[in-house]
Amino acid sequence: MAKILDVKGRRVWDSRGRATVEAEVVVGRGTTALARGRAIAPAGASTGSGEAKSIDVAAAVQNVNGPIRGALRAMSVANQAALDARLLELDGTADKHRLGANAMVAVSLACAHADAAAQKIPLWKKFARDRRVALPLPQIQIFGGGAHARGRVDLQDYMVVCIGAGSFSEALEWTAEIYAAAGARLAKRGLLAGVADEGGYWPAFRTNEEGLAELVGAIADARLEPGVDVGIALDIAATQLYRDGRYHLALDKRSLSARELHAVLGGWVERYPIVSIEDPFAEHDAPALQAFTREFGERLQIVGDDFFVTSAERVRKANGACNSVLLKPNQVGTLTETEACWDAARAAGYRAIVSARSGETEDVSIVHLAVGWGVGQLKVGSFARSERMAKWNEGLRIEEALGAKALPFPAGKLFK
Ligand code: PGA
Ligand code: ZN
Repeated sequence: MAKILDVKGRRVWDSRGRATVEAEVVVGRGTTALARGRAIAPAGASTGSGEAKSIDVAAAVQNVNGPIRGALRAMSVANQAALDARLLELDGTADKHRLGANAMVAVSLACAHADAAAQKIPLWKKFARDRRVALPLPQIQIFGGGAHARGRVDLQDYMVVCIGAGSFSEALEWTAEIYAAAGARLAKRGLLAGVADEGGYWPAFRTNEEGLAELVGAIADARLEPGVDVGIALDIAATQLYRDGRYHLALDKRSLSARELHAVLGGWVERYPIVSIEDPFAEHDAPALQAFTREFGERLQIVGDDFFVTSAERVRKANGACNSVLLKPNQVGTLTETEACWDAARAAGYRAIVSARSGETEDVSIVHLAVGWGVGQLKVGSFARSERMAKWNEGLRIEEALGAKALPFPAGKLFK
């Protein structure tokens, strides 16, 4: 069994040019190094208030090189639960502010990489153990707004879900066509204002609903059938829109009660081929989420991001709010807690989606989590910029490696 010989932290830079934490874990037998693993902490912009707290990067790096290195050295790298428990014990706070969630998630993931490397297996296989696995169905952003585009449009993500695709690679091919078509439409109408933080177009729409109409247009331009081949997923990120008891859609010049927003979203669900809505109401607005799920939960995937912040306990207390959970390892701090949230989701009959953050890097660990744990869906932003494409491309490599051993691609099963 390989033991941890060394843990090293360093400051690196993310897709927004902001500093973040990289951890490197060296493992071996005796004093002989056999393998190493590396991971980088991502960062959110529209963070939920219940997320584990990231701290100043210099302090987080010092924590990796000092106390964390001291605590993990000589431990077996194969026992992820024990490693993560040691990190939690060392931190000792409810919100991880002592070690920093950024330090903890980088180390937790780097340990998993090092163990897989020591066993000479790909990371997804470590998580899958002997289970057969499938590639996840992607949710891919075409237009970006909200906190990722200075609020130019209120909705944060307008995404496509290739519900008719027969494989992961086919879903990406279709998305490439839609992404190109959407860009061409915007350019032609003079509405293209660059790209937002996750690589989706930064559009100059006149209303939020125009984004839905444009997305349907782009799907059709790509010669795909909206609602049959390709569905729409939205992340309203409504915590960002909530002030003084109301939801503010600045672009539409409207301020809505929860009940009015419920009706607006319901109208969109009637008029557009929407299959999934994330954070339709603010993180504390459980009654609105419950009412929305009661009415639309049979026909829609309703995803809690800020609402669940990858907490197993929050999922257990959902009481009918949402029917799906976003899984973001850095929201909670360790791999073991992320997996516990996935277990809680399954136990509650909820689906889950493994998700990246708006601040990302070349790190592709989350793709391996989605495949290995059999989560079924993956959200990593748009179809541009290499911190996003690195993840889609890693999925292609895994799909190729799995070949005929893969379980059927879950697209149709999830949304038909
Ligand atoms: P964030 O956004 O990483 O900025 O929080 C992603 C999301 O809301 O899903
Ligand atoms: Zn979200």
